[in-house]
Amino acid sequence: MTGGGAGAGSGYLDAAATAPLRASARAAMLAVWDAGQANASSVHAAGARSRAVVEEARGRVAAAFGARPGEVLFTSGGTEANALAITGLALARPRGRHLVVSAIEHSSVLESARFLERVFGFELSVVPVDARGRVAPEAVAEALRPDTTLLSVGLANGEIGTVQAIGELAAHARAVGALVHTDAVQAAATLPVSFAEAPGEAGAWPGHSVDAMTLASHKFGGPQGVGALLVRTRLPLEPMLHGGGQERGLRSGTENVAGIAGFGAAVAESAAEVGTQALALMASRDALVARVRDAVPGAALTGDPEERLPGHASFTVRGVSGESLLVALDAAGLAVSSGSACAAGRSEPSPTLLALGIAPEVAQSALRFTLPDPIDDETIERIVRVLRAEVARAGAVGGRALDEGAALS
Ligand SMILES: Cc1ncc(COP(=O)(O)O)c(C=O)c1O
Repeated sequence: MTGGGAGAGSGYLDAAATAPLRASARAAMLAVWDAGQANASSVHAAGARSRAVVEEARGRVAAAFGARPGEVLFTSGGTEANALAITGLALARPRGRHLVVSAIEHSSVLESARFLERVFGFELSVVPVDARGRVAPEAVAEALRPDTTLLSVGLANGEIGTVQAIGELAAHARAVGALVHTDAVQAAATLPVSFAEAPGEAGAWPGHSVDAMTLASHKFGGPQGVGALLVRTRLPLEPMLHGGGQERGLRSGTENVAGIAGFGAAVAESAAEVGTQALALMASRDALVARVRDAVPGAALTGDPEERLPGHASFTVRGVSGESLLVALDAAGLAVSSGSACAAGRSEPSPTLLALGIAPEVAQSALRFTLPDPIDDETIERIVRVLRAEVARAGAVGGRALDEGAALS
């Protein structure tokens, strides 16, 4: 990823919160503004130019994921796309009032499901995960019912990096006739992901197994405040935003033309490099994980050691608060997160870490590095020096064995 915007640089290790802006995305947005923005629904020539920009970006997003352009609905981001998928599919499909989600879904998924529970009388089954954050296909099979409308499981978790076997989970949902949505906000930016309807079309994973998939522009190095829901056109979908009838009547509101252009450019560039970038990120991630585990007393990896996002290294550091580690790293020019960005600043331990069986006092020591680009050994040593100093300062007990199930070391 070639970030050029503010916050980019070798010390920026928080790509899962927001990836550095790509030069191509910036250029695409500037081109819209420099040409003079117009409403993409206006009939004059300037409006037609804006419409062309939106449709070109739609084509780029579709092509990147093996989708058809008609399957791409632009939204204001991942949160809105998740809300539209869950409420829109559930309310449009009077199959039953039962939903299944995993215990480690992003809050925008979980809270949308809870909204349906609270306001529309849906029943919600929350499927547990194992100590690595994996959802067991058998647990999903057990939760599904003849009246289940929708299964929603994130392709990868932003806090712990664990990637799910979505095809297997989806197969169980299909067997009972339930729809499947996956929040691919984190996975799609760093792994080859496909929305192609037929197996083997444009890559196979998760491919034909899902009915709807969420994307967020800023995780690809595009602008914030733009995203998309990929959804099969044959499916009835109840809109959330009513009004002008944009986006096939499914998402009213004047399109964010420049933002959509930036999103399209970022996704196209990301898709072209995702395979090679993933390999390079994995090498850096593995070096960072190995060094932190060896050299930082009390450090343990969270999430799945193998089935995880390429640039994602998340830890707990026993006896030290994640916030204090974050502040110390920031002072050393290294931008990271404690857990997810949206949970930062809250004092409660992360529900995701608790769902893994990590004790609350250990969960509050969470620290997450998400690499936009490979990092060098010097950066890894800088990280280790800061963490060791913080552990020493906190008087943490070095090398002590972890409680069983607290985290994977
Ligand atoms: C997995 C996941 N889903 C959804 C979102 C929400 O996306 P946005 O903040 O763009 O609305 C995020 C943001 O971090 C995320 O990590």
